[in-house]
Amino acid sequence: MKNIVILGSTGSIGTNTLDIVSKFPDQFRVAGLTAGTNDAKLEEQLRLFKPAAVAMADEKAAARLRARCGDVTVRILSGAKGVAEVAGLPQADLVISAIVGGAGLVPTLAAIEAGKQVALANKEPMVMAGQLMQEKARARGLRIFPVDSEHSAIFQSMEGHRREDIRRLILTASGGPLWNLSREQMQQVKPEQALQHPNWKMGAKITIDSATLMNKGLEVVEARWLFDVPAEQIEVLVHRESIIHSLVEYRDGSVIAQLGTPDMRTPISYAMKYPERLPLDQPSLDLAGIGKLTFFPPDHERFPCLGFGYQALRIGGTMPATLNAANEVAVAAYLQEGIGFLDIAEVIRATMEAHQPHAVVELEDALDADRWAREKADALVHARAR
Ligand SMILES: NC(=O)c1ccc[n+]([C@@H]2O[C@H](COP(=O)([O-])OP(=O)(O)OC[C@H]3O[C@@H](n4cnc5c(N)ncnc54)[C@H](OP(=O)(O)O)[C@@H]3O)[C@@H](O)[C@H]2O)c1
Repeated sequence: MKNIVILGSTGSIGTNTLDIVSKFPDQFRVAGLTAGTNDAKLEEQLRLFKPAAVAMADEKAAARLRARCGDVTVRILSGAKGVAEVAGLPQADLVISAIVGGAGLVPTLAAIEAGKQVALANKEPMVMAGQLMQEKARARGLRIFPVDSEHSAIFQSMEGHRREDIRRLILTASGGPLWNLSREQMQQVKPEQALQHPNWKMGAKITIDSATLMNKGLEVVEARWLFDVPAEQIEVLVHRESIIHSLVEYRDGSVIAQLGTPDMRTPISYAMKYPERLPLDQPSLDLAGIGKLTFFPPDHERFPCLGFGYQALRIGGTMPATLNAANEVAVAAYLQEGIGFLDIAEVIRATMEAHQPHAVVELEDALDADRWAREKADALVHARAR
């Protein structure tokens, strides 16, 4: 029996994780859950899964939850401190890190510092402070298990192979909902259209990141730190069908890939139960039925955000944290229809250009860059506001 904590239990990854828990009650017990503002959903979850503690980042939402849950034996914590405390619950064996954005950095590090195994969906902390997170995990003998489908595919394709034999990691990208649009058409795209991902049902922020291809830029940085492979050995391949989740090429020319129908429960369950595989009820992959898989090189002109990921990695230090924060601010502004779709990339570009990078030696370095970049990006958003 594994005791698990889910950071971000009310989100897309969080609810998929709980779906797995509910199908395998003899294998997992929920020790703790956290959310941001959605107290109604967290209430539903805590009544069903009976964790010892929950936390809500939003104080008002936590107060509402406390007012309604007097009849339940559960500790209800609040604020960033409460979320970090649940991340390090003494009884937890595994923490599923599934908060969206940089807000997940402090609690994910809290889990690592408390000696917990981490299954990482929340890629933004790896972008902000990947080296630091890995150093802290290694110092405690911990391994960070990838949940992102591409990184899970690479992880699975590396099993039993030597890291020094790797020639390239190839991350596949669906291309998102706007792959076929011209730049002129993209600028007119409303959030409702950009939120229609062709293959995956995910939270709003990552769906917009998929539309700009920033998601792939963030994933390149994530892969660099998860697998300790330099940026020059990480490539991106557009594969519209999202059947091949990623590939690893070895120096003898062999390419090993992981395939499957797009369903996040596969990579989530692999990270939860590694090295075992859980008997999920996914339909078998019908390659004959699919008939054809297609591949394209990424288009850096229409999708400059992918290049920003490589650029931030090359510059290093606080630049990836800056990239991430500027993206979060720009995506939030786009979702509120404050700026146009193409403005997202322009806000990121201008924020990165204005940043003076320095080394990330400790957590504060990444958090300072994050704060600086949010202010800068916010000012840029206001200057462009419609
Ligand atoms: N969805 C996918 O299929 C997928 C695939 C690969 C990787 N990922 C990564 O996994 C992470 C989660 O994605 P998602 O799609 O599941 O996002 P989501 O559906 O938007 O859920 C985000 C979760 O984080 C919580 N949250 C938001 N802001 C918070 C804050 N300031 N403090 C604490 N908790 C906060 C939310 O709580 P409320 O509900 O209360 O707001 C919710 O539980 C992202 O980093 C994403 O890139 C997702």
